[in-house]
Amino acid sequence: MKNNRLTLAARPGEFIKKSDFKMETVELRPLKEGEFLIKTLFLSVAPVMKFYMLDGAGIENPMQIGDTMRGRGVGEVVESRHSDFQIGDIVQGKHGWQEYVICDGSPYYMMYKVGQRGLPYSTALGVLGMTGFTSYFGLYKVGEMRKGDNVLVSAASGGVGSNIGHLTNIKGGRAVGLASTDEKCKLLTEKLGYSHAINYTKENVSERIDDCFPEGIDVYFDNVGGEILDIALTKLKRYARVVLCGRISQYADRENAVYHLKNWHKVGATRSKMEGFFIYDFEKDFQKAETDMAQWIKEGKLTYQEDILEGLDHMPIALNRLFERKNVGKQLVKIS
Ligand SMILES: NC(=O)c1ccc[n+]([C@@H]2O[C@H](COP(=O)([O-])OP(=O)(O)OC[C@H]3O[C@@H](n4cnc5c(N)ncnc54)[C@H](OP(=O)(O)O)[C@@H]3O)[C@@H](O)[C@H]2O)c1
Repeated sequence: MKNNRLTLAARPGEFIKKSDFKMETVELRPLKEGEFLIKTLFLSVAPVMKFYMLDGAGIENPMQIGDTMRGRGVGEVVESRHSDFQIGDIVQGKHGWQEYVICDGSPYYMMYKVGQRGLPYSTALGVLGMTGFTSYFGLYKVGEMRKGDNVLVSAASGGVGSNIGHLTNIKGGRAVGLASTDEKCKLLTEKLGYSHAINYTKENVSERIDDCFPEGIDVYFDNVGGEILDIALTKLKRYARVVLCGRISQYADRENAVYHLKNWHKVGATRSKMEGFFIYDFEKDFQKAETDMAQWIKEGKLTYQEDILEGLDHMPIALNRLFERKNVGKQLVKIS
């Protein structure tokens, strides 16, 4: 059997290029005892992958040129010599950018069976996967979101942000989202549970936050860092929480284009807190998040947004879409 895979061919520059990867076709070896073979159905696309390509993002060992590109996927077990995984099981874990993966079930792969919830398998990488869990734990645990809270969210139509409007409403708060186009803003208010949307590319962000939240914000869920974070710091209410989820505006050139915050003193002045987090820290509670969110989807309280390309060869384009601001919702690629 043949396996197509994308390996790292070059370290990325500001944007991701197709030539940063090499498509390879290899023969799949027979399974050893304790291994199982997974056919990839969908692969996840996330901003952190750019750092996997550069240096491992401080999360993983640095990738070497020639390594199969890292990333999570959902797939079907098609052959098994492992007692816990049977043919036909649908699993989620660290597949890498390839059509098949041989897995031994060791902790590195973080491979687990996807619950049969009557939802498309793609959701195991989006709203019911790491992306959704990031929204859930970022808002509820790190952001300590409470009933009545005013919640501001950047990259609100992206993978993580697209869940936060509804998650805020479910706990009795009100969410306002930032996005780069009018189309994305429309989606935020019409489908994704946001009460208002701000187009940060053409509106005065500071004034619009004042319009939406005259009394200030309780939670700022930050996906972008930089200038928008700096403005949000001037809008904090007393005892506000700033969730440092990500800073994609700073990912293009980490060495030279770092934005230095001017308004960090507002955190102290308002007795607020800013806290970073890494989603795998919440691993023991993933099951609860998955159960809650699947239930809310069934009840119609949570809708999700996916942006799906097709074909392994589209992975580089899909990754670059995040930095070109083209994706709407969770970016995925259907492999099989
Ligand atoms: N802490 C954790 O464990 C954890 C886990 C997962 C993700 N994250 C972080 O969470 C954030 C969201 O992740 P995601 O996977 O859902 O990605 P995403 O939000 O779908 O990322 C793409 C979006 O980011 C926005 N963006 C891109 N370049 C930008 C720029 N220069 N300035 C401002 N906005 C820009 C664009 O939205 P607009 O068009 O609206 O600007 C784009 O559509 C990322 O920063 C990611 O690194 C953290």
